[in-house]
Amino acid sequence: MMNNLTWHTTTITKPQRAAIKNQKPCVLWLTGLSGSGKSTLANALERELFARGIHTYLLDGDNVRMGLNKDLDFDNYARIENIRRVGEVCKLFVDSGLIVISAFISPFASDRALARALVEQNEFIEIFINTPLAVCERRDPKGLYKKARKSEIANFSGITSPYEIPNAPEICLDGCASLECNTESVLTYLSKQGYIYAAQH
Ligand code: ADX
Repeated sequence: MMNNLTWHTTTITKPQRAAIKNQKPCVLWLTGLSGSGKSTLANALERELFARGIHTYLLDGDNVRMGLNKDLDFDNYARIENIRRVGEVCKLFVDSGLIVISAFISPFASDRALARALVEQNEFIEIFINTPLAVCERRDPKGLYKKARKSEIANFSGITSPYEIPNAPEICLDGCASLECNTESVLTYLSKQGYIYAAQH
């Protein structure tokens, strides 16, 4: 499939695109069960980064599945392809100099590893939102757990499809802690690791 293609090197490079924005691009890869709090945290993080003058973009599972990935459902093949495409989009946004926040269940460790491998070391920050299944199910913000229990939805993560817990995420958050606390933990990590300046935090 990749025959007869030539990679074109661009004159303007990733470091130049990042430098004009005065920032260090990276992917904040949120992973966790449906209802674990990924979208809420992603939104709070983007708000905080934006307030510090940082150029960001947020990729959210539901939204991307209504556009780029609307041809994909939730069987194993489709989830793998979903994350493959999202990983490639993250790579493009990092190349453009942005801090990308992605919020996908991304249940398979091997797919998360592939997304990580697409960018440079230190450009991928895996953030596991550790919220017990029982808590996600109690929250059930979209009523999907109820449907999954009644077998009205197939391949539901945590119920009829596996979720593989990350074994070495850069950040592990307690999904039952407050939104403010978890947002602060990520911002502190980013400033300690030099992704955002202390003055920006
Ligand atoms: S992933 O597993 O392929 O990474 P993704 O994050 O893109 O999932 O999409 C998850 C969202 O799709 C959930 O937040 C939920 O709203 C919706 N959804 C619909 N069907 C399912 C399902 N079978 N399993 C999980 N989420 C589902």
